[in-house]
Amino acid sequence: MSTFKEGLQDVVAATSSICYIDGDNGVLSYRGIDIHDLAESSSFEEVCYLLWFGTLPRTAEIDRLAGDLAKNRPVPPEVFALIKSFPRDANPMDVMRTAVTALGLYDPDRSATDAEANLRKAYRLTGQIAGIVAAYERIRHGHEPVAPDATLRHAANFLYMLSGKRPSATAEKAMDVALILHADHELNASTFAGRVTAATLSDMHSGVTSAIGALKGPLHGGANIEVMRMLLEIGEVSKVDAWVKEALASKKKISGFGHRVYRTEDPRATHLRMMSRELCENSGNGKWFEMSRLIEETVKREKKINANVDFYSATVYYTLGIAVDLFTPIFAVSRISGWTAHILEQLGNNRLIRPRAEYLGPAYPARYIPMGER
Ligand code: ACO
Repeated sequence: MSTFKEGLQDVVAATSSICYIDGDNGVLSYRGIDIHDLAESSSFEEVCYLLWFGTLPRTAEIDRLAGDLAKNRPVPPEVFALIKSFPRDANPMDVMRTAVTALGLYDPDRSATDAEANLRKAYRLTGQIAGIVAAYERIRHGHEPVAPDATLRHAANFLYMLSGKRPSATAEKAMDVALILHADHELNASTFAGRVTAATLSDMHSGVTSAIGALKGPLHGGANIEVMRMLLEIGEVSKVDAWVKEALASKKKISGFGHRVYRTEDPRATHLRMMSRELCENSGNGKWFEMSRLIEETVKREKKINANVDFYSATVYYTLGIAVDLFTPIFAVSRISGWTAHILEQLGNNRLIRPRAEYLGPAYPARYIPMGER
């Protein structure tokens, strides 16, 4: 057996044609196309096509996919009824995880597991997860969910379903770029969890449910919420330096920093920093960007650790007026495209994923001690 690597660091656990990362040089690409080109020129729908089908779509293909995604947005009323029964103070990631399980029960392809049915499930889940996040936000504030608008693209429709108002061009663009940047990231913890579940020949909804559970944790997607909580707790630019130094001195992990793969800047952070600056400054919230920059400078100087995708996405979402506990669910609104692409890829050439553990327990054979002698 090979040697144990804590946290499976640098262990190659799958072959994949979806996402290429060069952690030393800060490169991220989907199907070989650089994330910077995608962030500048693509759309979330186009990225979905690229992840699912492996190539950039032609006009007719992207129009068809955008139409299919829009058609697949409605969430069954039974699932809304279930969401309405949840506590108003539930963690939105728990709501999403439970609602996705319920979506599996009402999916028209629920008993089919062939590749075509799985692709249809990928479309549906991509449309519906956005609807679930938006609906829970409405329901917990005593409002009815907003029906999707099929004339709007995914990013704009998501913001529309959240607030009931059509977003500005700036907000739509910011959300679309954020969705592009979060769509896939190779064998990150949630994608790996999804592939492990799919590899047992379970089903697409179970794989996505596993992935949502993994994304929720603060070491993974949950970090964007912790970043905003940290900024709100610090509160003032003048308090940043002392707060960060104290946190580092007490060996506290600063959310939004560090990465298992990148040894240099996370290329997603480069875009999100620019977006954060623009949105914060243009909305009169320059303080949040200024604080973020100072935190980043201090962490880099003191610990030589770079910001990751979660650091600047926090202030991007905050200035778009989105509730802080929805930041990780928004990660899932995008990452569903990558999760489903990976599950489809896994099932295309499947083998059960079943590693080994290095046993550290009592030596074998340990004696079974009868109850009366213990
Ligand atoms: N703040 C302070 N120190 C840090 C941080 C951080 N955010 N991240 C890493 N370090 C330090 C560790 O303390 C450790 O130092 P040491 O060797 O002196 O003990 C060293 O850097 C290596 O850190 P590990 O935790 O061993 O790195 P690992 O690869 O296991 O963890 C992780 C990566 C989980 C991302 C980590 O950097 C972390 O906890 N970051 C904060 C949470 C976060 O932002 N998560 C989101 C990651 S991106 C994503 O999943 C979408």
